[in-house]
Amino acid sequence: MNDVKVLDKEFTLSISESDLQARIASLGTTLNKDYKGRDPLVVSVLNGSFLFTADLVRHLDWDPEIQFIRVSSYKGGMSSSGEMQILLDLKTPIQGKDILLVEDIVDTGNTLEWLRTYMMNRGAASVNLITLLFKEEAFQAKTPPEYIGFNIPNEFVVGYGMDYAEHGRSLPAVYTLKS
Ligand code: IMP
Ligand code: MG
Repeated sequence: MNDVKVLDKEFTLSISESDLQARIASLGTTLNKDYKGRDPLVVSVLNGSFLFTADLVRHLDWDPEIQFIRVSSYKGGMSSSGEMQILLDLKTPIQGKDILLVEDIVDTGNTLEWLRTYMMNRGAASVNLITLLFKEEAFQAKTPPEYIGFNIPNEFVVGYGMDYAEHGRSLPAVYTLKS
């Protein structure tokens, strides 16, 4: 399946299911090395990262506490709203904890920057971010993600958790908007 239609838009295959899964396994290996002897709290940034988080944590050789946070940044369509708002907050204190934030995609970096500040203000010992996809050309924030699955061009993508107007999330691969 190389082309898919999500609502009114056509998308074409960008990263296959097997390429995604191979890269996620190797990210798991890297995290297992880097976090050896530590026990970071995994914080999955909903909604887009639910599949990536689910696949990634099954490659970890420790048994992490997993929490979820949801912030609003994109309002439905394909443009950023700028304004950040917490829709679902962490359920346990994070004082003194190492945090591993899990994101589906980093675009401008606004969400990442905001979340880093939010976690540090709540007393986290450290905050690192792993993102499946990174739109390097669109990035405007200070500190890039510590772990990146794939660098992609500045194009709109759907699938593997990521949506276009809340659809397309269940696709097992990543698809790019056709121009
Ligand atoms: P940022 O704050 O601009 O870095 O955007 C981060 C969030 O916007 C991501 O976590 C996604 O939820 C969403 N987003 C950015 N680019 C895309 C895209 O190409 N497709 C779907 N969602 C996206
Ligand atoms: Mg996201």
